[in-house]
Amino acid sequence: MPSIALKERLLSASQILDLFAGLQPDPAWSFAECTPRDTCRLTHGYHRYPAKFIPQIVDKLLDSYTNPRWPTVVNDLFMGSGTTIACAIERGYRATGTDINEVACLITRAKSTPLDPEKLERRRLWLYERLRPLDDGYVSNGALPAILPGSERIDTWFPERQKHELGQILAALMEIEDEDERNFFLCCFSHILKNCSLWHMGSTKPARDLSREPRRPWPTFLVHLQKMTDRNRAFWHTVPPAVRTHIHEYLDVRCHDARELPFPDNSVDIQITSPPYVTSYEYADLHQLTALWLHYVHDLRDFRQKFIGTSRPTNHRPYHGRSAIAEEILAQMETANVGLVPSIRRFFSDMSECFAESYRILKPGGRACYVIGNTQLKGIAVRNAEVFVELMQEAGFVLERVIMRQIPSKILPQRRDPNSGRFVSHQIPQCVEAYPVEYIIIMRKP
Ligand SMILES: C[S@@+](CC[C@H](N)C(=O)[O-])C[C@H]1O[C@@H](n2cnc3c(N)ncnc32)[C@H](O)[C@@H]1O
Repeated sequence: MPSIALKERLLSASQILDLFAGLQPDPAWSFAECTPRDTCRLTHGYHRYPAKFIPQIVDKLLDSYTNPRWPTVVNDLFMGSGTTIACAIERGYRATGTDINEVACLITRAKSTPLDPEKLERRRLWLYERLRPLDDGYVSNGALPAILPGSERIDTWFPERQKHELGQILAALMEIEDEDERNFFLCCFSHILKNCSLWHMGSTKPARDLSREPRRPWPTFLVHLQKMTDRNRAFWHTVPPAVRTHIHEYLDVRCHDARELPFPDNSVDIQITSPPYVTSYEYADLHQLTALWLHYVHDLRDFRQKFIGTSRPTNHRPYHGRSAIAEEILAQMETANVGLVPSIRRFFSDMSECFAESYRILKPGGRACYVIGNTQLKGIAVRNAEVFVELMQEAGFVLERVIMRQIPSKILPQRRDPNSGRFVSHQIPQCVEAYPVEYIIIMRKP
């Protein structure tokens, strides 16, 4: 069965398990033919992001479940780099979104705000003029103003010369008064940080690569700025004219916890989202370079705790959600002594709170589309997708459709250590496929 469409009724745990067991990947949703040029089209190539999904998924869902003639509000409660939000804005839909990570909010705002290409060009020329001394090579400390991060941790990642040149670029960017323009340039700045540091680019967790030569910031910045400028021009000419002139009436992006959404009841037509996966990424750690430079974070440990899916949860919120499938998985893990039981229990509880919020802000008849993968830990199947269906039913949703899709080119590491569950490099043979397929769960608010 490539995908299923169901009549409205609540499914028992065993019916949910049977339904998923009968699924086959639907080739229409794998987008295997897409090249990086397609998946990074328009502003989608502004910034890398772990587990970013491809715009083709969002576009196909919007084509299937929205009508371009109707005013439509699209929401993503876990925006990440804003794929859903940018796709919605491109069509002239209104878009609301949240992410707990300031870096995600910066990227989303930059990706979803079309800037007048002529004004942007003037700003670019101003910046060249302002930083012209850097054209001839590194400029000594004090010769240009610089803004440096307060934390000493920055020295772990950046050699002195790179650090000072980045500080000089940042000082110029912070002079830009227009917030939309400043976000655009800061997004470019954020994107080049890893290239200009000792960050191990192939690693899924923060690690230094002492064998690599960090790039020089100013030329690296200029190359990426050129790409972003071209993409902005194409985006500007793609969005409807009303969006260009009134973007702030179309776009509402908040740095906020998805367990307490800052949007009114019954305000959204469709949600398209991919939640954090338990134990996959520590987003707080992975975005620490931008967070340090832009002073988003004071205490990394504190910051980590706000993230759903962290492997070291210490939050003491009460537990929410009842899922027989989750209980069975957790019991198997306890027997096998897997050790991740508290984080997985906390993850399902946190997601249960999000589902209640999803339900609250959707209009009756509105749809919540969740993209999620399953995985294995010490041979135990962690059936996130099946648990999600059960918990979403509990929140009041009915299951409308499940699509199983193969992931040909998604920016996800494909292998996991079977014991720890951690992502690892592709070369280790005993490791298992992490998320070879994923599910798109489409639930409806009756
Ligand atoms: C899988 S990513 C989303 C990727 C996104 N679909 C994209 O295309 O870039 C999940 C996101 O959930 C965010 N997140 C984690 N905990 C959160 C919370 N409590 N509230 C809101 N967002 C949270 C993470 O910061 C991360 O950006």
